[in-house]
Amino acid sequence: MGDQRNDLVEDLPPKRAQDFSEEEDWPGYFGAVQGKGPRETLVFALDLFEQEGRGGGLAVDIAAGEGRDTVELLERGWSVVAMDNHPGAFPLLWAQVSEELKPGVKTVEVDFAKMEIPECDLVNASFALPFCKPEHFPRLWGKIVAAIWPGGRFAGQFFGDRDSWASIPNRTHHSREEVTKLLEGFEIEMMREEEKDDPPDVRNPKHWQLFHVVARKL
Ligand SMILES: C[S@@+](CC[C@H](N)C(=O)[O-])C[C@H]1O[C@@H](n2cnc3c(N)ncnc32)[C@H](O)[C@@H]1O
Repeated sequence: MGDQRNDLVEDLPPKRAQDFSEEEDWPGYFGAVQGKGPRETLVFALDLFEQEGRGGGLAVDIAAGEGRDTVELLERGWSVVAMDNHPGAFPLLWAQVSEELKPGVKTVEVDFAKMEIPECDLVNASFALPFCKPEHFPRLWGKIVAAIWPGGRFAGQFFGDRDSWASIPNRTHHSREEVTKLLEGFEIEMMREEEKDDPPDVRNPKHWQLFHVVARKL
């Protein structure tokens, strides 16, 4: 009987980053995304700063994880405060930062509920905000908005209310109207809505509704 069960487990398609995210198995997630490049929202925001001749400011990377975006920021001349509450994140992040860039990054192990966000040019929150509990989200968002200097930017993702994970307790999802309302006081430079179904042959197919956002504070 035990052997049969093992056979069944082995027949499943392999876990991917999204399967670890669904379970909030962050070490599993960090392993699955190791070596991946920066998020498109971050790259879009950094390109806009550079077009304005404003590269190399101060960024706060919220829920930075193993550091894929923090590394990009550092390599493009930015100073970064990287925040995450998982103790497994920052050893992986530091391991990717060259000695000469290490003075440019400060890591803060902290929960969304207790984040104090320093004033900055850019708040980056890649695939991060949906994991903040709904009761803590309004305060966190208020701190994000207050921290960004006029002319600075927010980059990151919101998850939609039609996304499969909206029904998981303690997740924060938003309708398009709610995202637009959150971004009052910003000029929206990117708002790419992505809605799709996973193919049926993946381990745990889900419906995705994501908003990829870059916005400039007025
Ligand atoms: C899907 S990962 C995104 C990581 C990274 N920003 C990226 O784009 O790959 C979500 C991150 O949120 C962090 N996280 C989850 N719950 C958190 C909480 N309550 N406070 C702070 N960080 C949290 C996890 O440790 C993880 O690094």
